[in-house]
Amino acid sequence: MRSIRSKFLIFIFAILSVLLLLLNTYPIITSRDAVFEEKRNSLAGQVSVVSSALGGLDRLSPDGVRDVLHFLELENYSRIVVIDDNGGLIYDDGIGEPELADLHQALLGKEIFRSIFTNRCFSSSVVAPIGTQGGILGAVALYENDTERADIILEIQHQVRILSIAISIVALILALVFSWIVLRRLEYLTNSMQIVASGDYSWRHTVTGNDELSELGKEFNALTERLETNEEQRRRFVSDASHELKTPIASIRLLSDSILQTADMEENMMREFVSDIRSESERLQRTTEKLLDLSRLDDSIQVIPEPVDLKQITLDAIPGLLPLSREKDIQLDTDLEDGCVIMANAEDMSHVVFNLTENAIKYNVPGGKVMIRLSQDSETVRLSVEDTGIGIPEEDRYNVFTRFYRVDKARSRASGGSGLGLSIVHDAVLAHGGMIQVGSNHPCGTVFVVSFPRPSSEETGI
Ligand SMILES: Nc1ncnc2c1ncn2[C@@H]1O[C@H](COP(=O)(O)OP(=O)(O)OP(=O)(O)O)[C@@H](O)[C@H]1O
Ligand SMILES: [Mg+2]
Repeated sequence: MRSIRSKFLIFIFAILSVLLLLLNTYPIITSRDAVFEEKRNSLAGQVSVVSSALGGLDRLSPDGVRDVLHFLELENYSRIVVIDDNGGLIYDDGIGEPELADLHQALLGKEIFRSIFTNRCFSSSVVAPIGTQGGILGAVALYENDTERADIILEIQHQVRILSIAISIVALILALVFSWIVLRRLEYLTNSMQIVASGDYSWRHTVTGNDELSELGKEFNALTERLETNEEQRRRFVSDASHELKTPIASIRLLSDSILQTADMEENMMREFVSDIRSESERLQRTTEKLLDLSRLDDSIQVIPEPVDLKQITLDAIPGLLPLSREKDIQLDTDLEDGCVIMANAEDMSHVVFNLTENAIKYNVPGGKVMIRLSQDSETVRLSVEDTGIGIPEEDRYNVFTRFYRVDKARSRASGGSGLGLSIVHDAVLAHGGMIQVGSNHPCGTVFVVSFPRPSSEETGI
């Protein structure tokens, strides 16, 4: 946490430094350059006036030069130096030795401008040749010190510095407040995660605001809710499964104890007890087989799908269901379209057809009917199992796919049902990208409709 805060503050600090550096240099440099430019123009104008006035003289003499300069009223200049064409000093109104190098350059016809900004002053100079049409008479240098403009620039610099300090303080306070608010919310989210990680799935994170962190909080709550549902389902499944297994085991134990404890049991009674033991152990076997099927479907390791012809699967399943339909006096009909091929696992599809048809027969009335239909259109392959049986009340339809759920517990148990068949069907259909719907049949009974996306001919290779 602390590291995010310091990273954030370093980032703000870096941006701020760059901004302040620009603020403190760019305006000063541009205004200084503007002053240099202005000086160059004004000095160039002045020096051309001076040099043409001096050029009017026949010859450069100290008195002649002084008179001309006096006449021109050049009061702005700190120093004026004039040399003749031999480099001899004609006029100098300054103190100390004059710098003659630029003046000597001017004798070659060059005009030289210099300006520097030091010691709170713009010191500028311009040197130009004094020329007549016949040739160069000499050279003149004008020197100027401007503290007025320098003061303005220094004042700007001072103001910008004060502004920079104010901006830095405000930005740092804002950055600290912002990082504190964000970090407090992150800490709260981490705290919520720790609570949920410790096993309290009922905890919900209080979401405030409408930003990315709130979005994260909402996602976290959705995740926790899913975890809670999964945990609840797992708990219910374990308790249901142990209950389902406990009941036949207890019956077997009771029946075998009775046989062992009854000294001279009649053979008929013993046979009856043993047959009960057998049917209980059969039920135990069926339940454990179905549990294994379910756990295989739960496994993320998917069987590689192959082209499966649902008509063939249905035709193969029917012989195994005929004894039950005969026993229950149910008429089993089919209307199966050719070429209903999907990409699936054949064993899973057999379970789907078998369980749906077995239910349609089991939960039917004597003399009832079961119809298996198979059809397809351009996008979907559809399998439906219709019966004229006892039907499923509307409020139970949503739950029939839940593991161990039975509508009529007594009836289902009496017919050996474990309440797992439809869960297997549901999981197998979903694992193959299909969907299953349940509705009522007209005028009575139930319809289960399973639909799968129709694969392309490249997929099936047909
Ligand atoms: N065609 C149907 N008509 C009426 N009720 C049905 C039908 N199919 C399923 N049911 C109801 O839904 C419940 C769940 O069915 P499911 O196939 O999952 O379990 P089961 O048949 O009881 O046991 P199992 O299939 O595991 O042997 C059944 O107990 C039954 O009450
Ligand atoms: Mg069933």
